[in-house]
Amino acid sequence: MSSVDSLPPADWSPESWRGKTALQMPSYPDPVALDAALHELKRLPPLVTSWEIVALKQQLADAQEGRRFLLQGGDCAENFSDCESGMISNRLKVLLQMSLVLVHGLRKPVIRVGRFAGQYAKPRSADTETRDGVTLPSYRGDVINAPAFTEVARLPDPKRMLQAHAHSAMTMNFVRALIDGGFADLHHPEYWNLEWVRHSPLAVEYQKMVTSIEDSIGFMETISGSRVHNLKRVDFYTSHEALLLPYEQGLTRQVPRQQGWLNLSTHYPWIGMRTAALDGAHVEYLRGVRNPIAIKVGPSVRPDQLLRLIDVLNPDDEPGRLSFIHRMGAAQIADKLPPLLDAVKRDGRRVLWVCDAMHGNTESTENGYKTRRFDNIRGEVELSFDLHAAAGTRLGGVHLEMTGEDVTECTGGARELTERDLERAYRSSVDPRLNYEQSLEIAMAIVRKQAG
Ligand code: PEP
Ligand code: CO
Repeated sequence: MSSVDSLPPADWSPESWRGKTALQMPSYPDPVALDAALHELKRLPPLVTSWEIVALKQQLADAQEGRRFLLQGGDCAENFSDCESGMISNRLKVLLQMSLVLVHGLRKPVIRVGRFAGQYAKPRSADTETRDGVTLPSYRGDVINAPAFTEVARLPDPKRMLQAHAHSAMTMNFVRALIDGGFADLHHPEYWNLEWVRHSPLAVEYQKMVTSIEDSIGFMETISGSRVHNLKRVDFYTSHEALLLPYEQGLTRQVPRQQGWLNLSTHYPWIGMRTAALDGAHVEYLRGVRNPIAIKVGPSVRPDQLLRLIDVLNPDDEPGRLSFIHRMGAAQIADKLPPLLDAVKRDGRRVLWVCDAMHGNTESTENGYKTRRFDNIRGEVELSFDLHAAAGTRLGGVHLEMTGEDVTECTGGARELTERDLERAYRSSVDPRLNYEQSLEIAMAIVRKQAG
């Protein structure tokens, strides 16, 4: 471990955020119950380990240098009820398939990071919701309250933090068991075939690529005379928005033989756009933990603000420490991104640039569905590559809301889903996700863009 990344700032502690303005926090009605839940949370085992976090930070440092590419994706919000084997393995399957397309096309290793095993808290634009004259607290994610529109469901319940920890642990346990059991083995890409492979317009292209990879593996094994074993395992890392600070604090720990503090609820926490104020509680909390961290950057962020965020979050310019996930929207990115890229480049700061092509492209249909157009999502990814190339910076990854299920939440894509299709399988409780086929299509578009 290098010395620059080892000590927390002298004026920081896991609870120093409490002295700052904490936006998007629920107000728990019962302080005694809150204390009891936090006390219990603090003694539960962590969800990830320090050495996994250190390994991911090194891989993100490689991505900053163009030696790897980051694929970060998953649900907008996980629900406790989604914690079941089929959903979890489908999520892994689609991430594996996308990463196969990217590895094959980009010719570099892909870092796979799920928005899972902890993505249970959501920022909301309003604290309350009114229906038919009744006003209740907004739904803020399963770690805080429940979505049903009743007083009881919407009351923030601190015991949900313990349930979130348990559901994250069950998810991690299953993911780790699948990976250890060879689920991700490149010798057997058929393990992670989803139904679509049989009847998708993209199936031929995908199948051709799988066959070419199988041929290459066969060739390597023939000339080396032995089976290539390190193709069996791949690493999966987890991430979520570090929004509910009492929960994050409860899992912030010191570990033997390591200096400083780590957030052991996830490998790679991020700060959302609405809580990214320089003097706010979320920036205060994350500046002191040693995980690699990310921060969402929206269209209203100015270059000087971005540089000051770097001063606070990565004062020693540590490789792999800080990622900026820009989420400008297809219509605004050409205007808003270049000044930010120029400022960071001029200052010689080390960050990993990642494109979230989802959150700037949300719109509502006439019949009330929140949706995103596939063409805008793909367009924002493609433009990002061009804008980085023009600025002399590097797009090191993508951040997507996607699912392994056959949902109809975003319009467009190879099957040309229309607004009328949305009602068929709209399941997201918050934002619209790419379905498995649209996700693969984005991976293919990235490869095409980079190849051409
Ligand atoms: C999200 O990632 O689900 C989200 C709310 O994003 P943002 O903070 O960028 O709006
Ligand atoms: Co979202």
